Amino acid sequence: MGGIFTVAAALVLLVAGLVGTAIANVGDDCSTSADCGAGQWCFDCEPELSGSHCVRSVGTNPFQLVNNSLPFNKYAYLTTHNAFAIVGEPSHTGIPRITFDNQEDTVTDQLNNGVRALMLDTYDFKGDVWLCHSSGGKCNDFTAFEPALDTFNEIQAFLSANPSEIVTLILEDYVSAPNGLTNVFKSSGLQKYWFPVSKMPSNSQDWPLVSDMVASNQRLLVFTSVRSKQATEGIAYQWNFMVENNYGDAGMDAGQCSNRAESAPLADKTKSLVLMNYFPSVPLKLTACLQHSKGLTDMVNTCYSASGNRWANFLAVDYYKRSEGGGVFQDMDLLNGKLLCGCQDVQACPKGSSVVCSA
Ligand SMILES: *[C@@H]1O[C@H](CO)[C@@H](O)[C@H](O)[C@H]1NC(C)=O
Repeated sequence: MGGIFTVAAALVLLVAGLVGTAIANVGDDCSTSADCGAGQWCFDCEPELSGSHCVRSVGTNPFQLVNNSLPFNKYAYLTTHNAFAIVGEPSHTGIPRITFDNQEDTVTDQLNNGVRALMLDTYDFKGDVWLCHSSGGKCNDFTAFEPALDTFNEIQAFLSANPSEIVTLILEDYVSAPNGLTNVFKSSGLQKYWFPVSKMPSNSQDWPLVSDMVASNQRLLVFTSVRSKQATEGIAYQWNFMVENNYGDAGMDAGQCSNRAESAPLADKTKSLVLMNYFPSVPLKLTACLQHSKGLTDMVNTCYSASGNRWANFLAVDYYKRSEGGGVFQDMDLLNGKLLCGCQDVQACPKGSSVVCSA
């Protein structure tokens, strides 16, 4: 009897343990990410919150959850600032890197976790185009991350494996080699997905429908910071199509949201896309967690008002997975909820015959 009882008790404990694992929620204690539910990781938000908790690590896909039949500018896209500046990226120049980083997982992982826009800094370097941190427009061996081709290949693989997804690249562009970028887009196979400038609305019209962009397989949007490349290489000049708030510390000043110098005023509705930056001038892992909480949500609302009552389409952050719970993903759900159906959370958008927000 004792033996059977022990076995039964052990089974109960085992089952309870398994169930416990399967239903771990955001905010629950954890010791490894395996303790957390799907779409979460185990993260320690010290010093703000002591101990490790399950926090979100994957975004909601609005195309799948709601539908993809609205214009491209009616959705919000999680954007990684300096997506290429990844902790632990080995040196590709043979010289140890001495510069800061902004993200913690590969571009492939970022995309798989729901990131849909990447900010990349492109430079002429070693007779090629590289992703690099620098000042003065010149890449150095000790600040170079990797050849742009490597990252473009990852993006190409994602677009090929995910035929209903759209990826946007926002380039801080220092490439002056003629057709330098175009050559890398061609070599990587990304040209195949190119969304042409001729289809981009520049006078307050809506963008094409996502479903049409998917059907025509034009699922890569590229914006450059160099005005002349729109005419020479057919790469869209970012601020012809988008307004953008200040970046760095100037973009995190509570209650303030105004345009960066290159952008039209945020309320200028001739530009149909709104980009919101929310990251400090110097990326700091330790504070990212706290920043991805109330301060960010407040700024999302501040920038909404400043943009003439328009919710941001792109929300750009560092260390996007760091939070004390819902983090940046919760703000994305807010943005998509507002954009798609006027609800506080995209999860609450009306389903079936319902016409009201479900929460
Ligand atoms: C897609 O979702 C939006 C927002 O809920 C809704 O207004 C629209 O009617 C839906 N379109 C289709 C074809 O279901």
